[in-house]
Amino acid sequence: MRGYLIAGNWKMNGSKAANAKLTREILAGWADTASVRLLVCPPYPYLGILAETLSGTPVALGAQNVSQHASGAYTGEVSPGMLKDMACEFVIVGHSERRALMGESSDIVAEKFAAAISAGLRPILCVGETLEEREQDRTEAVIDEQLDAVLDRAGIEAFDSAVIAYEPVWAIGTGRTASPQQAQDVHRHIRSRLAARNAEIAEATQILYGGSVKGDNAAGLFTMPDIDGGLIGGASLKAGDFLAIAAAAASLG
Ligand code: 13P
Repeated sequence: MRGYLIAGNWKMNGSKAANAKLTREILAGWADTASVRLLVCPPYPYLGILAETLSGTPVALGAQNVSQHASGAYTGEVSPGMLKDMACEFVIVGHSERRALMGESSDIVAEKFAAAISAGLRPILCVGETLEEREQDRTEAVIDEQLDAVLDRAGIEAFDSAVIAYEPVWAIGTGRTASPQQAQDVHRHIRSRLAARNAEIAEATQILYGGSVKGDNAAGLFTMPDIDGGLIGGASLKAGDFLAIAAAAASLG
């Protein structure tokens, strides 16, 4: 039983006041549920405050990025050990915005993933194709390259704790969601790629879908057999929207 993970990627949004309101409303509206875990990933400066607010609650804490280095002269970077120190359980690696805007290659993503695992964090590895790549029928090839870089570096055993998020770039922030069947087809492919290395780990690995998930399309996605939750951008910034997505998962769990 993999259970559902509903993760909010707040991206570069929020403030002390807005975050306090958002977390207060999420906590007030959420009853601990065995089959569904909630996670929020705020920007770095707010991790400390959120760690205190969320301590002892059923909502987990994660970061949106991490350095591949453990310490040293890397101005502006944050190490995996620091995130662990700030009570993060999860960290997103390889989000398409970082791949596209910050030039993170699959090799760098793999280094970050491995460094996160070494520090005892649970990485959420993002993979996904652009619209052009989908139209050229290259979706699976693109995902294989992104996935294999990590599998070759960190090993399949890393997925004892790691999570994968399939986020088609064309569905992020566009209001255009992959259909449940489109997403399921890619999730199935990802799971079979993992299974080629270890069938038992593949079966237990949570694979989230991300890209314009909202309260009204969440249940359709989450009923698919290989979709184990969502990585939510825009809809994670409003407690009501985020809770509606979580409730959709809970109703299926
Ligand atoms: P949206 O939910 O805003 O499309 O963003 C998805 C995403 O990028 C989550 O990481």
